[in-house]
Amino acid sequence: MFSIILAFIILNHKLYQVSKKIVIAVDGFSSCGKSSFAKLIAKRLGYLYIDSGAMYRAVTLGFIQNGLIEDGVVKKNDLLENIKKMDVGFSFNPNSKLHETTLNGVVVEEHIRTIGVASFVSIVAAIPEVRERMVELQRKLGVDKGIVMDGRDIGTVVFPNAELKLFMTADPKIRAERRLKELLEKGQPVNFEEILANIEERDHLDQTRDVSPLRKADDAVILDNSYMTLDEQMVWVEKLIEERAK
Ligand code: DC
Repeated sequence: MFSIILAFIILNHKLYQVSKKIVIAVDGFSSCGKSSFAKLIAKRLGYLYIDSGAMYRAVTLGFIQNGLIEDGVVKKNDLLENIKKMDVGFSFNPNSKLHETTLNGVVVEEHIRTIGVASFVSIVAAIPEVRERMVELQRKLGVDKGIVMDGRDIGTVVFPNAELKLFMTADPKIRAERRLKELLEKGQPVNFEEILANIEERDHLDQTRDVSPLRKADDAVILDNSYMTLDEQMVWVEKLIEERAK
């Protein structure tokens, strides 16, 4: 009995045994399950998980709160001053054991996930001054390695030397269904068409913007998870992590 328990513990902690700390960049389209996957990898490895999209969402929330977005357009006056004043960070929640996004010291994890923020985040994320500030913060977070960061430009701009780069993709309709389920569970009044349109629009904006457009890094490994469970994705990535962390 003891040996069965021991074997079980060893199997479940296999990923903790990788020898050196690495940087894992997880990029890809929106609503691809990047965050869930990156979070799980970080948990298994005991790494820090950072959702870089949450940082752009927090800035967007700040812009909305400060009245900087009018008729879908960001007012450019006082932009730099506003960005400098915005303190985006993460605080550890001991109950969920996760880092929650903060804006000026206030946890905004729920507020940044609304469709209101989602509708403007691509516009805000395309502003060079915003990106410059966020990339600077992201690099500081990764200075000691042992980090899994997900986003759009992590493997191409933030950590071009990351030991492991993943590029995630999935069918837009499947992504819209997943997102719909998530938002309905949170009680948000949304419908499938609205979500699919938002996803397609964000894909387009993310890929065609001038600054740091979404693209696969040359050395990134593609993961299409349209028909994969999270567990299947974990099994798939395990071998890659072992190789890169040797
Ligand atoms: O991953 P997400 O859907 O929460 O990201 C929100 C927005 O932020 C999305 O429109 C793309 C943008 N983003 C970005 O431009 N660069 C990143 N590294 C992460 C997100």
